[in-house]
Amino acid sequence: MTVWEAIQQRHSVRRYQDKPVEPEKLDQLLEAARLAPSAGNRQEWRFVVGTDADMRQKLIAAANGQSFVGQAPVVIVACAVDNEHVMPCGQLSSPIDVAIALEHIALQAAEEGLGTCWVGAFDEAAVKELLGIPETVRVIELMPLGYPATTAGPKSRLDRDEIVMYESWSQ
Ligand SMILES: Cc1cc2nc3c(=O)[nH]c(=O)nc-3n(C[C@H](O)[C@H](O)[C@H](O)COP(=O)(O)O)c2cc1C
Repeated sequence: MTVWEAIQQRHSVRRYQDKPVEPEKLDQLLEAARLAPSAGNRQEWRFVVGTDADMRQKLIAAANGQSFVGQAPVVIVACAVDNEHVMPCGQLSSPIDVAIALEHIALQAAEEGLGTCWVGAFDEAAVKELLGIPETVRVIELMPLGYPATTAGPKSRLDRDEIVMYESWSQ
């Protein structure tokens, strides 16, 4: 599969087959994350990989009741250490860096026939308590993953001419 094919293939999967993810596939996803770029190569990302059924069940409540978070055989809890670093452009680097690494995971998962979903609707304090994540660490996103039980629908996106301007900002 090419990168372009993986980009087209990736979509939010909210129903998963009752089939475990092979450890070597999971390793490859985490390696894809490890190789992601980050501001100043700070690599603020840390990943808690949850496979325990009881823990995933409890995570549902922390994820605003989104049941697919517990139904997926694996949930990656993407965290950031070093949350103070602001780039000269004024943006905090850690959420951007963690997001890039997570999208590496999502695209590599697509290549491996796995589905993922970004999950930003969660209660950070509840996730931290459940997983014993230290006070200073931020939870950036959750990413359930597994073999999809659904197929992709058409992508709903703005047209390119609505989002791209050439040479200067223009309406
Ligand atoms: C930062 C972020 C947070 C998201 N949070 C959630 C979420 O909490 N629950 C959910 O079902 N989908 C969530 N999504 C998925 C989006 O709804 C989805 O990516 C978007 O509708 C486009 O659909 P697609 O991923 O199938 O292409 C999130 C996506 C992103 C990028």
